[in-house]
Amino acid sequence: MRKKVSIIGGGNVGASAAQLLAHDGIADVVLFDIAEGMPQGKALDMAEACPLWNSSVSVKGTNSYRDTEKSDVIVITAGIPRKPGMSRDDLLKTNAEVVKSVAAETSKLSPDAVVIVVTNPMDVMAYVACKTSGCNHRKVLGMGGILDSARFRTFISFELGVSPSDVEALVMGGHGDQMVPMPRYTTIKGVPITKILPPEKIAPLIERTRNGGAEIVSLLKTGSAYYAPAAATCQMIRAILFDEKRILPCAVYLEGQYGVRDIYVGVPAVLGARGIEKVIELELNEEERADFDRSVSAVKALLEKITV
Ligand code: APR
Repeated sequence: MRKKVSIIGGGNVGASAAQLLAHDGIADVVLFDIAEGMPQGKALDMAEACPLWNSSVSVKGTNSYRDTEKSDVIVITAGIPRKPGMSRDDLLKTNAEVVKSVAAETSKLSPDAVVIVVTNPMDVMAYVACKTSGCNHRKVLGMGGILDSARFRTFISFELGVSPSDVEALVMGGHGDQMVPMPRYTTIKGVPITKILPPEKIAPLIERTRNGGAEIVSLLKTGSAYYAPAAATCQMIRAILFDEKRILPCAVYLEGQYGVRDIYVGVPAVLGARGIEKVIELELNEEERADFDRSVSAVKALLEKITV
C-alpha cells in the first residue's frame, strides 16, 4: 500500500513540498488548508501534472481534517506570515494557536504519524505540537537544521567553485538568528573546511547562512523562502517513509543531551521510520558550546512568552 503524507497549510512551502512528493511519486498527498478552494485547486493542478511526471500517486486538496486520517507523516506549515504592524511576539502567539489547533486535530486522526513542524518560529512550534498532541516526542520533529545546512553548503560551494553535493555541512541550534554553523564538522569530500579556508573567509559564509532566510525575504519583498524549505522537508519525509536512518540535523526534544532539557533545538539525529531514532552527541569546543548555549537561550526566551 502506498504511504500517505498530509500537509497542513497549502501555502508556498506546503504546496511546493506536495509538488516534490507527487513529482517523485513518494506518497499519496493530502493538502489541507482553511482557505476554501485553494488546496483543492492546487491539488487538482498537481494531479493533472502526474501523468506528465509518470507519477501514480494521488494528490487531494481539502478543507476537512477527515481526509488526513491514517497519515504516515503529517507536515505542519500552517500559520501566518508577519504583516505590517505585527511584532514577532504577535506572530509567535498567533502561530502557536494555529499549531495547537492543527496538532490537536491531526493527532486524533493519525495518532501513529511522524509529525514534521515547519511553521516558524519552528523550534517553539515543534514544542507546542508535541505537548498539544501528547505524541511520543521522538515522533515530533522540526525542520530547520537541514535547510540551514543546505544554505551553508550552497555558500561554501559558491566560495570554492565546487559542487554543493560534495560539501557536507552542519548547522546546530535554534532555527533563528542565533543558529550555530559548525565549520569543524563541515567538510568538502571529507576534508574539514577549516583546513581549506582561513577563518576570515569562513566568517562571512557563517554570517550569510545566519541571515539566509532574511536575505530571501528582502529579495522577495512579499513572503519568505519556500523552494529550499520544501526540499528540506521532503528529505526528512523520505528518511522516514523509506526508513533510511539518515543522520540529519533536526529540531528534536532534548532530555539532557548537550546538557539541555525539555526544549526543542537543532542537533544531528538518526531519522527513520520511528521518527528520531537516536540523538547524536558531538563533542563541542568552548566557542561552539557558548554559541549553542546562546542559541538554546534564545529558543527558551520565546517559549517563555507563550502558554503551552
Ligand atoms: N489551519 C490550516 N491552514 C492554515 C491555518 C490553520 N489554522 N492558518 C493559516 N493557514 C494556512 C494559510 O491559509 C496559508 O495558506 O497556512 C498557509 C501558510 O502559507 P503561506 O502564507 O504561503 O506561508 P509559507 O511561505 O508556506 O510558510 C509557512 O513555514 O517556513 C515557514 O515561516 C514560514 O511559518 C511559515 C510557514
